[in-house]
Amino acid sequence: MQRSKSKAIYDRACGVIPGGVNSPVRSFRHLRMAPLIVESGKGGRIWDVDGHSYIDFCCSWGALILGHAHPAVIRGASEQMQKGTSFGIATEIELDMASRVVHLMPSIEKIRFVSSGTEAGMTAMRLARGVTERPKIVKFTGHYHGHSDALLIQAGSGAMKINPLATSKGVNPNTIADTICLPFNDFEAVRSLFRSEEGARIAGVILEPVTGNMGVVLPEDGFLECLRELTARNGSLLIFDEVITGFRLGIRGAQGLYGIDPDLTCLGKVIGGGFPVAAVGGKAKFLDHLAPLGSVYQAGTLSGNPVAMRGGLETLAILEKEGFYEELHRKAEAMTAPLRHALRNKNGCLQQAGSMFNLFFGVKKVRCKEDLKQLDEEMFIRFFHYLFERGIYISPSSHEAWFMTAAHTDVEIATAVGTMIEFIEKYV
Ligand SMILES: Cc1ncc(COP(=O)(O)O)c(C=O)c1O
Repeated sequence: MQRSKSKAIYDRACGVIPGGVNSPVRSFRHLRMAPLIVESGKGGRIWDVDGHSYIDFCCSWGALILGHAHPAVIRGASEQMQKGTSFGIATEIELDMASRVVHLMPSIEKIRFVSSGTEAGMTAMRLARGVTERPKIVKFTGHYHGHSDALLIQAGSGAMKINPLATSKGVNPNTIADTICLPFNDFEAVRSLFRSEEGARIAGVILEPVTGNMGVVLPEDGFLECLRELTARNGSLLIFDEVITGFRLGIRGAQGLYGIDPDLTCLGKVIGGGFPVAAVGGKAKFLDHLAPLGSVYQAGTLSGNPVAMRGGLETLAILEKEGFYEELHRKAEAMTAPLRHALRNKNGCLQQAGSMFNLFFGVKKVRCKEDLKQLDEEMFIRFFHYLFERGIYISPSSHEAWFMTAAHTDVEIATAVGTMIEFIEKYV
């Protein structure tokens, strides 16, 4: 495959951008190849600067639930741009967007918009500490809540693989001294922590209710209920990081699917329709601790940016249409059912929650980060190359979710499945 322009751009980028990329996992170093340099996208496809097209199952790490360059999103955002791109002053469209989310997600009574999931996680954590006046935050190993210092410990996603020191180097040990990490799905670890002396010092528990950052890992039956009960009894806040799952698993996210009412919710990705929007929402009695009403400080020049709000509003309007998620899940199933079948007697598995899923090679089940130690990394690298060379792009890591969008056609899905099964039958 001729990729001379991509390689030349990457080489030049390495001279002026660390590692040639603005987010580590884009570099493909762990895949031992030059990264994809993308030029454009439309629907379920992207085109690189060398003119190759790829069916895209990463879709901006799950942000693009409608696929690339959806006409309604582009039209809305372009209209908004004519009126000005940023004011740093309150606008009515922020109210429209906030009202929409409050209407759609019952646990959210008030919401504050920010520009990245990192800010959302950081703000949720600060809010939990401010509200409870307690120091400790509990998180789970392999879960990723952005790159703020106190949450960058035993994190998933790119922080897990690219450079194992990235979760600790430069992070002051004092900053993470109050972050407690537990294994996901470990009921006893959580219960004994809450029973211990530390229990009274726990401000909040933050988690990805369905994890996307160590591949798709589901909560075991009763685990979310257990966290809800323990935090409520203990006066700690339960924080659902739904940056991936919010508006992805359904219009009410993972909390709707599992029937759990968290105190705070982090949103991102889908909510911005491909623009930089994220948010922290929740019970009014907690959100009202934020400045200017309360003394928990949070701010942002581009927070609630009107162009980004419009992109989000246009996206939500489509997600709300009857049958949207049924059709999305039908497409996901069309991809996952044959793959699961192909893997039944192989050393690998497929894990899925609705339109997010991925293959793991070397294991039959992943329920926590520990299980990832068994992953067959070499098999994944081979698989990635095989697909890439045949015009299929999946999330470039052995433990990241892939995403179905409403824009993928049945033909694109069938092409991808056929190629994947060919690989599985030949090599796994
Ligand atoms: C669950 C989760 N939380 C937070 C973040 C951080 O979001 P951002 O990359 O927008 O800072 C991510 C990013 O992938 C995520 O998956």
